[in-house]
Amino acid sequence: MYEARVIRLIYVFAFGLVAGLWAVIAGPAAGAQAQTVAATPPMGWNSWNHFAEKVTDADVRAAADALVASGMRDAGYVYVNVDDTWEGQRDAEGNIHPNSKFPDMKALADYVHSKGLKFGIYSSPGPKTCAGYEGSYGHEEQDARTYAAWGVDFLKYDLCGLRDVIGRENLETKQSSAIIRAAYLKMHEALKKTGRPIVYSLCEYGADSVWEWGAQVGGNLWRTTDDISDSFRSMALIGFSQAGLEKYAGPGHWNDPDMLEIGNGGMNADEYRTQMSLWAMLAAPLLAGNDLSKMDETTKSILMNKEVIAVDQDVLGEQGSRLGPLQVWVRPLAGGAKAVALFNFVTDDVPQPITLRFKDAGFTGPVHARDLWAHKDLGVLKDSYTVTPPKGGVVMLRLWQ
Ligand code: GLA
Repeated sequence: MYEARVIRLIYVFAFGLVAGLWAVIAGPAAGAQAQTVAATPPMGWNSWNHFAEKVTDADVRAAADALVASGMRDAGYVYVNVDDTWEGQRDAEGNIHPNSKFPDMKALADYVHSKGLKFGIYSSPGPKTCAGYEGSYGHEEQDARTYAAWGVDFLKYDLCGLRDVIGRENLETKQSSAIIRAAYLKMHEALKKTGRPIVYSLCEYGADSVWEWGAQVGGNLWRTTDDISDSFRSMALIGFSQAGLEKYAGPGHWNDPDMLEIGNGGMNADEYRTQMSLWAMLAAPLLAGNDLSKMDETTKSILMNKEVIAVDQDVLGEQGSRLGPLQVWVRPLAGGAKAVALFNFVTDDVPQPITLRFKDAGFTGPVHARDLWAHKDLGVLKDSYTVTPPKGGVVMLRLWQ
């Protein structure tokens, strides 16, 4: 009896010792790997589209406050990402410091975290960022450690300055492709070493078909195109050109057609509804790019359409695809439902009716339908649905059987 208890105690002790040793050896890195970052497309806010190089610590705090006050945080927008122009000088040891617009990055991250949000930052694999500030070239591990110490949860890593190192004329060569991939992998390894789960956002404008290798170098999202601007033309050209990339997206690794322009003023409400819907059909990251402290009700209703957000965030993580020559897109959802978006992307013409035949969307027999912008059940529909989306606008449906 006594012996059995002693043996059991020895076993328990030995098991504890092994488990303890493993925790020390594997360290926080093993824990971090067990967590999936970006299981659904990241949602939040980024400073660039509205504030660009003028962004300050106060603007970022105001954005965090507004995410909470507006209800956006609770709708899923949790990343607060500072884009380019925060960077200052390196000290004698090579540690990066923010410039005078950002007095204390750790304090800013703490503030963002205190609101139940996550904090993102920006750098470049080159010596300089796109706006000419200090990049991470030659300081990758050191910068990753600094970010982790500040409490960074998201890094956008923007090629820019590395193009000057490679030589812009050589960008499409095999050698430059290898250099770019290695540079992205290097920062991924550096981030991993910190043990902090950090969403890794590749930004190299879709060069060298990044969707084919972005996940292999640790990317959780990768920009597929050049920069978006706040016009229907730019948004539509980028969004509708994503057809064909669907097979590269999935939980943990997403195509990124750039950030949202909703609320910035260059498009009308129908056109902004098109961006929100198309991005949701594309399983794209939803990073608002407007001044959140000055949102009107229409902007809020577009950014916070929970039914459209639910499509974007669907756990199946399948990116939608285009059906035929018209701008009709279909996205499979968990549980067998499908999202369908019918876009009228012609803005200089009279809107034409579009007919969706349910069998083209993969259904046999009648379907239940719900209009995700009208927030209205359409009942059970037989073979098809015909609707005229507004000029530059969209009708978005959820269909199920
Ligand atoms: C590039 C990126 C933009 C933004 C700017 C910042 O142009 O594509 O999204 O980050 O750099 O300088």
